[in-house]
Amino acid sequence: MSSSIDALRPQFPGATKWTYLDVAARGLVSLPVKAAAEQYLEQRMFDGGDKAWMFERVETARSRIAELIHASADEIAFTRNISDGINALAQALPWQAGDNVVICEALEHPANIFPWHSLAQARGIEIKTVEPDSGAIPLERIIKTIDEKTRVVTLSTISFSPGFRFPVAELGRHCRERGVLLIVDAAQSIGILDTNVQELQIDGLASSTQKGLLGLYGAGFLYVRREIANGLTPLYLSRMGVKAASGHEASSGDLQDYRLADGAKRFDVGNFNYIAAIALERSLETILGVGTASIERYACGLAASLAEGLAECGFPVFRCPTRDARSHIVSVGRELSDEHDATRDREMIRFYEHLTANGVRLTIRRGMLRFSFHAYNNDADVQKVLELARGFWR
Ligand SMILES: Cc1ncc(COP(=O)(O)O)c(C=O)c1O
Repeated sequence: MSSSIDALRPQFPGATKWTYLDVAARGLVSLPVKAAAEQYLEQRMFDGGDKAWMFERVETARSRIAELIHASADEIAFTRNISDGINALAQALPWQAGDNVVICEALEHPANIFPWHSLAQARGIEIKTVEPDSGAIPLERIIKTIDEKTRVVTLSTISFSPGFRFPVAELGRHCRERGVLLIVDAAQSIGILDTNVQELQIDGLASSTQKGLLGLYGAGFLYVRREIANGLTPLYLSRMGVKAASGHEASSGDLQDYRLADGAKRFDVGNFNYIAAIALERSLETILGVGTASIERYACGLAASLAEGLAECGFPVFRCPTRDARSHIVSVGRELSDEHDATRDREMIRFYEHLTANGVRLTIRRGMLRFSFHAYNNDADVQKVLELARGFWR
């Protein structure tokens, strides 16, 4: 594969310490990211820190996020996580009682469920939840459920379990034609799948930074398409969300005449999580250097070899029977369950224990063993799991 992908692995000590197949829970931090975070801490420790430098880092990170998803920098706001991003956008939309949001709650992470329930209680919106189909969010059912009161369709680009990829572009086209906003939780795809918000016709996208973006916890971003963002008034009004009236960030300017910042920047709230922005700035340099088209091909290719190998060894690889929904995640188990991080299947528990005892890092989600790949993985990781799988039956 691409030589630049091969060159990545040594930057991630965790990738050789373990057979690390757990980006769906959290990605590995690289040596350059650690060095960037240390540079920030040293500045804070010795000199208190240089605020102008910190702001520059934040704006570079913002531009790199924009480049990653084919947006403009002013369409990106910094958030704490996905829950924060989705809540911020959802609360700012101009709801009327009786409006509805279409969602497949059975396959969403709670981060993209509770924000809509808050609106249902406070603003009288209706949540129209569609039933999943064989572990997948059903495109046709979503489309059929949209009616004249639908303002938003929301879903994960890849579900956290079983990790099926949703055909976002097809729904995006449909939503745009009907004037319905498409808001996605991109926790599982950002940094791994090649994502172009313009081609996919996404109106809002929320991400965290500790998974595919290979950054830190407690930081995320929110993309809001400029035409939409410019018509919204965020619930939180903050000095970072208004146009700077004077030079200093802490000056209020003329309170009779303040204006919201352009685009999604109006969703910025107060001081930033600088260390996380600095980590992200550096990890995005690596990700953009390789390119997400290559990362997607590579990570999904490794996942496909693992899925094929495990199926040949007789393991119940969970596949979507209705469409090609493969991603960089492979789920193994007989059925999705309602347990978040456990399974009742004794054989799968033993297989999980066999893998973890032999240095494989993975998670159990919804009754399935979940393996997930990023650019720091390689074929040796796949072969290690397959060898352990063959040994498990012996
Ligand atoms: C699909 C999905 N959404 C959201 C989250 C996390 O949400 P938050 O960033 O709000 O903690 C996760 C996993 O942690 C996830 O897999």
